[in-house]
Amino acid sequence: MQKLHAAEPEAVAVESPRFTGIIYTADHAGKWSGKVKGHLPQVTVDAGKVTVFTDHSMSEEHFIVRHTVVSAAGEVLGEKTFSPKEAKAQSEFVLPEGASGTFYATSFCNKHDFWLTTFTI
Ligand SMILES: [Fe+2]
Repeated sequence: MQKLHAAEPEAVAVESPRFTGIIYTADHAGKWSGKVKGHLPQVTVDAGKVTVFTDHSMSEEHFIVRHTVVSAAGEVLGEKTFSPKEAKAQSEFVLPEGASGTFYATSFCNKHDFWLTTFTI
């Protein structure tokens, strides 16, 4: 894997069959292969801000519990825990100035486990 930034450790290839059943991704959805659209975190980056959206309904019985954004170095840049009463699973985080490289966005469903989108800036 190509090193993206001199000060950044090599990004870990977590989007791999090795982690299927632990970390679900677009390409490795395992037993949740029919659940990708409603669980994969969608990432938009604009003007130093990351928006993470999970296209999932929110109810007491079934909802998105949490989002995080993490750098390749493992620094948690943002985290949000949702209430099932919230209208949608969307979170916004401000990036450190000059942030670049590989990042991870995560979304956790109370019934359908832990999902990951890897993105670069
Ligand atoms: Fe779900």
